[in-house]
Amino acid sequence: IQTLPPIQLAQKYFSLFPSERDPLWQDPCEDKRHKDIWSKEKTCDRFPKLLVIGPQKTGTTALYLFLGMHPDLTSNYPSKETFEEIQFFNGHNYHRGIDWYMEYFPLPSNTSSDYYFEKSANYFDSEVAAQRAAALLPKAKIITILINPADRAYSWYQHQRAHDDPVALKYSFHNVITAGHDAPVKLRVLQNRCLVPGWYAIHLERWLNYYHSSQLLVLDGQMLKTEPASVMDKIQKFLGLNFPFRRFDPKKGFWCQLLEGGKTKCLGKSKGRRYPDMDVESQGFLREYYRDHNIELSKLLYRMGQPLPSWLREELVHTS
Ligand code: A3P
Repeated sequence: IQTLPPIQLAQKYFSLFPSERDPLWQDPCEDKRHKDIWSKEKTCDRFPKLLVIGPQKTGTTALYLFLGMHPDLTSNYPSKETFEEIQFFNGHNYHRGIDWYMEYFPLPSNTSSDYYFEKSANYFDSEVAAQRAAALLPKAKIITILINPADRAYSWYQHQRAHDDPVALKYSFHNVITAGHDAPVKLRVLQNRCLVPGWYAIHLERWLNYYHSSQLLVLDGQMLKTEPASVMDKIQKFLGLNFPFRRFDPKKGFWCQLLEGGKTKCLGKSKGRRYPDMDVESQGFLREYYRDHNIELSKLLYRMGQPLPSWLREELVHTS
């Protein structure tokens, strides 16, 4: 048999199958043929078994910290660019390949049973993350945290202001969320980042296209603030771990890790910011804006056999 030289062959192949230009990494150990040609030095035990997918501003950093306290769970190494988040499945890092991803996790030891996890809060509403994650980590467990999408939108706006985003500083929250189609592009971009992640049912459906509902746990972010120990118990059951870790102490309006000697270690200043309450007009606007999304979410959670978060029950009372 004669074939073209490799580069021409690749060019020919991708001209015939252009959709395959975008890679979809799979677990090399899932297919014997792939495993056989993979380096003997490498192991498939260096992938996470748990992904915390976000969305942003729902308490994902607190959860990441709490999970890291568990003796059986090991988080990723921090990234220079994106701190505790790897942000592999959603954006350009994906094209750096699976070796790049694996480098974020320690080499597994023979003695301990390592349970790696990572949290990247923008996986939740990414168009591509669910498909990519399921191709590489088909058996992974997935955790999402939901708070009232109106509060999430407001928290994101305040986050942008705290980071001196000129658009967030220039426009009021109400201006941002109610901006029309003819508004300046930058304002529309901020509006989308405030509002779109809150279309919870749409994003969750995308994850459910690729993962079985038993692999997905939906947490109530409101409860993570007020009763973190019971949320952590729920997670332990979901993960099949049984080491209790209740080491939290109330401070600055949140629960914090209790250290030896009675001191507490809380999340930094950037988490749990103090800002004025949302204005009444914005509350009314967002209640209306998210009404259908929240109804869809309640149907979806019912189908998944998962309880409704407290904030969602409250919202549904207001819509009836
Ligand atoms: P606010 O700063 O708007 O109050 P994320 O880590 O996903 O960006 O979420 C940040 C939010 O986590 C904070 O938003 C805060 O409400 C919430 N949170 C939950 N538990 C917390 C804790 N123990 N300490 C600080 N913030 C916590």
